[in-house]
Amino acid sequence: MALFMAIPLLCFAFLLCFCSALLKWNDVKHRRKKGLLPPGTMGWPLFGETTEFLKQGPNFMKNHRARYGSFFKSHLLGCPTIVSMDAEINRYILMNEAKGIIPGYPKSMLDILGKCNIAAVHGSTHKYMRGALLSLISPTMIRDQLLPKIDHFMRTHLSNWNQNVINIQHKTKEMAFLSSLKQIAGIESASIAKPFMTEFFKLVLGTLSLPIDLPGTNYRRGIQARKNIVNILSKLLEERRASDEEIHLDMLGCLMRKEGNRYKLTDEEIIDLIITIMYSGYETVSTTSMMAVKYLHDHPKVLEELRKEHLSIRERKQPDDPINCKDLKSMRFTRAVIYETSRLATIVNGVLRKTTHDMELNGYLIPKGWRIYVYTREINYDPCLYPDPLTFNPWRWLDKSVESQSHFLIFGGGTRQCPGKELGIAEICTFLHYFVTRYRWEEVGGDKLMKFPRVEAPNGLHIRVSSLSN
Ligand code: HEM
Repeated sequence: MALFMAIPLLCFAFLLCFCSALLKWNDVKHRRKKGLLPPGTMGWPLFGETTEFLKQGPNFMKNHRARYGSFFKSHLLGCPTIVSMDAEINRYILMNEAKGIIPGYPKSMLDILGKCNIAAVHGSTHKYMRGALLSLISPTMIRDQLLPKIDHFMRTHLSNWNQNVINIQHKTKEMAFLSSLKQIAGIESASIAKPFMTEFFKLVLGTLSLPIDLPGTNYRRGIQARKNIVNILSKLLEERRASDEEIHLDMLGCLMRKEGNRYKLTDEEIIDLIITIMYSGYETVSTTSMMAVKYLHDHPKVLEELRKEHLSIRERKQPDDPINCKDLKSMRFTRAVIYETSRLATIVNGVLRKTTHDMELNGYLIPKGWRIYVYTREINYDPCLYPDPLTFNPWRWLDKSVESQSHFLIFGGGTRQCPGKELGIAEICTFLHYFVTRYRWEEVGGDKLMKFPRVEAPNGLHIRVSSLSN
């Protein structure tokens, strides 16, 4: 009898020894003779601490911070990773790409977005591609070309919502995609929108998947979607070249222009830049818009103040007058609502970098090829920076200095700071303008909202909409 009881106990003890030996071995494997690695553990061979990270979400980071401090090592999503939550080190990391701290986005993202994608290029090529992008979305371009297109699009997109149940998650996703397609391809956007959108949604899913190239995987579908999108865009470039007397006042027209164009890009670069623009603005703009609708619904006082701002803009105009740059500038409270939404919902958890060589950081050795996760989520809920951090309080942003503080990383920082910030804000402001001046709404209820690893409503976020004038 005693023997029978001893066998499971022995097995259990053996398993325990084996597991702790594996964990120890994985830590020892990553230990370097040349210098001291940051504190933390590497978890299991191959999987590292990925399962705990995905299961516990933000609590994983909180617990590790409490145990190891604001700068620790781990092994996440297949890579040895340094997590940094230290404001000063984060700034250093974001400012020092030239010292070998380059973007470290996952393989599936780079494969699908293309080799000329902005996250895949560094040094002078990055400067050149970024310059070309900035020339398309400068304040003058926003004023003269992009805002009129955005305004025209939003008016149509937001019509006929009265007396309907709307899945606002779906509508804001469509909005972010179709609005940027209109800015990119102007008049032709209508004819390519449908096939393009189906492929684009597959492309996005592919970039967020594991790079397993097998039939039926999201990665394989994403790669195929990229091929289809490249075909659509190549055909568009060809057609435009064939009718070369026509002048197109849209992003593609600017990129293809030969005379007076400082940036001469190859077709491959043009296509990857277009995909970059669509991809970078898509999830950020759509999710911020959806969450703004959610928070406005839950905070009637904020909605009242926001609506007051927009109705006073409408009062100064004829019904068909579009929103212009002066109106945008006057939307101070709306801007505050957008910042507060991004902060409280944490639309972007952080940014990824990797090292090109062994280097010293914060007194520790960071080996070549390790990923650095500049994790900004915790900053958003720091009560020293944002008093009463879990309350939705847009008024906190009305003091302009909050936006210019060094911990403000909602749009990233340093050499890769978001170039589309003002464009994204203009799109969300225009969306909110037509939404709150035309409609009131209530949530249907029962929809689940996930905040990690991405902000999303798995089954949609449904609202019942009625006209404000009823
Ligand atoms: C609310 C809206 C937006 C948010 C919160 C946001 C956030 C960010 C963040 C955090 C980064 C830094 C990424 C990094 O350092 O690796 C970034 C970069 C970038 N964003 Fe945005 N973004 C928004 C809208 C847009 C829009 C509309 C565009 C379209 C042009 C855009 C284009 C880009 C590009 C191209 C980069 C990469 C810049 C580079 O690597 O030099 N973003 N964005």
